This record gives sequence, C-alpha cells and structure tokens, in this order.
Amino acid sequence: MTDRQPRLPSFYRLVALDSIDSTNEEARRRIAAAPGELPEGTLIWAAEQTAGRGRRGRSWSSPRGNLYLSLVLRPTCAPATAAQLGFVAAVALSETLAALLPGPDRVRLKWPNDVLVDGAKVSGILLEAASAAAGRLDALILGVGVNLASRPESGLYKTISVREAGAATDPVELLERFAGCFVAWYDIWRREGFAPLRAAWLDRAAGLGQTIEVRLDHETLVGRFATLDESGALALDLPDDGRRLVAAGDVFLPGL
Ligand code: BTN
Repeated sequence: MTDRQPRLPSFYRLVALDSIDSTNEEARRRIAAAPGELPEGTLIWAAEQTAGRGRRGRSWSSPRGNLYLSLVLRPTCAPATAAQLGFVAAVALSETLAALLPGPDRVRLKWPNDVLVDGAKVSGILLEAASAAAGRLDALILGVGVNLASRPESGLYKTISVREAGAATDPVELLERFAGCFVAWYDIWRREGFAPLRAAWLDRAAGLGQTIEVRLDHETLVGRFATLDESGALALDLPDDGRRLVAAGDVFLPGL
C-alpha cells in the first residue's frame, strides 16, 4: 500500500485494505453484516486481490500496482435503472484517463462498460446487486479495476496498462481523480437522469455505426452498432432481422 492516504470528496468513506479476495466480495460481506446500514459512499480499496472477479464469471487478474475498488451505492431508483450506474462509472473513468494521458482521442468506451486506450482494454467495471432478506435490493456494489502498472494477457481482448500508455500515475492519484469525476457524474445522473450520461458515453463510443460482433451466452450476433438505447442496452441492426436490443454480452470490434 502506498504511504500517502487518498484525499477523497466528503461523499466517500474509505476502507483501505492491503490484500483481500475481492473488493466486491468484501463489500458484499460488510453489507450483509449490517443490512441497510453500510453508508452509501463506502469505498473498499485494496492494493491487491487474490480472487478478483470479472464480468460473466471470468476472473480479474489483480497484482499489486493496479487499482481495485468497490463502491457501495444506494440510489433511490428502480432496480432496472440501476444498471445505468455502470455507464456513470465508465464515463467518469474515461474522463479521468483522458485527462492523464498524453495526446488527444485515445480513450474510447466499449459497450457496456469497458474503457479502451488505443483500442486495448485498460479497465473493467463489475456492477452487482446486494440483496437484503426476501430478495429486496439493499445496495449496489460498483467494482472498478484499472490496469495501471501492469496488465494481464487476455485471450479475448488486447489489453494495455495506464503506465505503458504513457501516464506516470499511481493508485492513490488515480483513485483520487476517479473519485472526484465519479461523484460529479453521479450527481448529474441523480439530478438529470440518464440522458446526459448517454450523450457523454456515445461521444466516446467505440465501434458506433460499424459492424460488430456480440457474443451472448448461446449465440453470436453480427450487425451494425446503431446506438445505446435509453436504458443502456446496445441497439444492433441485424442484416435480415431488424433491430435487436442486447442487455448483456461481449462486444468484439473490427480490427481489434
Ligand atoms: C470486467 O470483467 O471487465 C470487470 C472487471 C471488474 C474488476 C473489479 S476489480 C475491483 C472489483 N473487485 C472484483 O473482484 N472485481 C471488481
């Protein structure tokens, strides 16, 4: 763990850990230990994870030097709307990284919530619901991982680290910058809804208007990435089959 403690906006309550299985799991345990009580803004930050988790059941390689955090959120919206928080985090992270990296136009967003630098994945977001008794939604856990000092090889995507992309930052600075950007966009989302987030996301969208491949659990779709709809679904125009809205899947872009 770095010596300096992060300075975060008053929205956050920082829990700094040296090593943990997964910050999302730690958040889930803390929520379960005190149902309804863990304050919104609780931010679990770890220097390393021993069992980091990714989307769709994958693992997330988590050596020291990168950023791993999970934020507890309690928005007063319908559970279906809560999925928009992944886009809030992705937009905030893309803004954070664009400000740190030299050169323009290197940061893009890949549906749903990946941030790309020079076309390679630099970070991932894992949004999970924590249920209280009787299946009622208690809180949301927003997990964010950023390849900062190192990156894993992935059979699925090209990967990159912030450092090899040319930004000399460390986990403390990156956490502080992301925390500031996130709370600003979270406020916008709470006051104005998804529209400004959707516009900001589309501004940086990778593959928009292009033919892309979307792998679902049991089928692969190839079509034109038309837009992000008002709920956060990917709208794909299929050659013979009209428009299809996709709520969960893996996107593969041409040439990447
Ligand atoms: C993805 O597959 O793209 C999402 C990766 C999310 C990784 C982060 S690291 C912090 C938090 N704790 C976890 O176990 N996963 C998320």
